[in-house]
Amino acid sequence: MKSDLLVLSAAQLITAPGGAATLLGPSLNRPLLIPDAAIAVVGETIAAIGLTRDVAARYPEREARSVLDAKGRLVAPGFVDAHTHLPFAGTREMEFEARAAGESYEAIAARGGGIRASVRQLRAMDEEDLSDRIAKRLELLLRQGITTVEAKSGYGLSVEAEMKQLRALSRAAGSATTEVVPTFLGAHEVPDDYRDRRGAYVDLVVNEMIPAVAAAGLARFCDVFCDRGVFTVEEARRILEAGKAHGLKSKLHADELADVGAAKLAAEVGAISADHLLHASDAGLDAMAAAGVIAVLLPGTAFTLGLPFARARRMIERGLAIALATDFNPGTSMSSSMALTLTLAVTQMRLSPAEAWMAVTANAAFAVGEGDRIGRIQPGYQADLCLFDTDDHRHIPYHYSHDHVHAVVKRGRVVLDDGDRWSCF
Ligand code: NIG
Ligand code: FE
Repeated sequence: MKSDLLVLSAAQLITAPGGAATLLGPSLNRPLLIPDAAIAVVGETIAAIGLTRDVAARYPEREARSVLDAKGRLVAPGFVDAHTHLPFAGTREMEFEARAAGESYEAIAARGGGIRASVRQLRAMDEEDLSDRIAKRLELLLRQGITTVEAKSGYGLSVEAEMKQLRALSRAAGSATTEVVPTFLGAHEVPDDYRDRRGAYVDLVVNEMIPAVAAAGLARFCDVFCDRGVFTVEEARRILEAGKAHGLKSKLHADELADVGAAKLAAEVGAISADHLLHASDAGLDAMAAAGVIAVLLPGTAFTLGLPFARARRMIERGLAIALATDFNPGTSMSSSMALTLTLAVTQMRLSPAEAWMAVTANAAFAVGEGDRIGRIQPGYQADLCLFDTDDHRHIPYHYSHDHVHAVVKRGRVVLDDGDRWSCF
């Protein structure tokens, strides 16, 4: 049979098994590992996977439009980064330094730094400049093997500035290879001009921002930073319900700084995910498990801020689906490395390498509502693949501080290929 792309001779292929469901409990630790693997792609879609000799018997090389010889490398699904604040304008090194000197993230935020500092930077930047910066970052992500990324607004905090941020993201996404899933996060912080009338800001989010964002089709999800010193559970509930009424599914920054009951709220509103969860209570986690809310864990943030890591093992034991993401943002996690995220998950949260891989691919895809289309190397799935300069999936978290990416396939097309350039493999 004819194919558009054949990937041959991978030393190892790692993927979630077939069947479009989140991986829970022990199943998180049971990936499908195929040695000497091949993948046949027809159009943008995976047609067959298996041993090279079996796949090549059905899809011969001579009938393939293009061939990518993996030469004994590892092949995995492209990373899905399910939580980022990618469309930011500028960086915040001063706060990084201040934290090293002992000031806390919350203290910096209370004196007008933190998210509000990023808001000032974003409001001052014009839309085209912002879009160019986002486009460059999307290119960086692709080189790191990220083929789909969720990206949040939340550095505008006015109707115009939130719309500007989401339009800039949409424009950059239009010409990027990495797929973008946009999220509206107007309730990221109370902006300077509403500090003494926060109710009026919540009204603005509910009555003006959400309708405008939804009408323009600029977001798929609505997120709220529900935590100590930010938005309360009651405020978040109102905002998330308004989002739902406008077709935006709920996400939540939940219980990162303190247990405020945000995990429980996520269950109550039927959120697709609740993220961070460093301080979530057992009752909150149980409610999430019962409601099928995915826990998106962000070890880069705990690492950067020196906070305790989320209790991933306990979550897995309690039947929660967990995903891992970078939280790429200029304040609390200035990294877009999914490889480093894997390392932190294994070394600090005690996930097995296999569990961590499933959490950045199959489960991460579900956390952005795309689990039946991406995140797996299985027939019928979109052909988003990454080849790494190693022959073993455990090597990626183990040999840290390096992304090891050799080639990337997006929608069946080879979009990055380092060919025979030097590598330490
Ligand atoms: O996910 N927790 C809230 N929001 C971001 C931080 C954003 C910022 O500090 O700019 C986070 O960590
Ligand atoms: Fe975040």
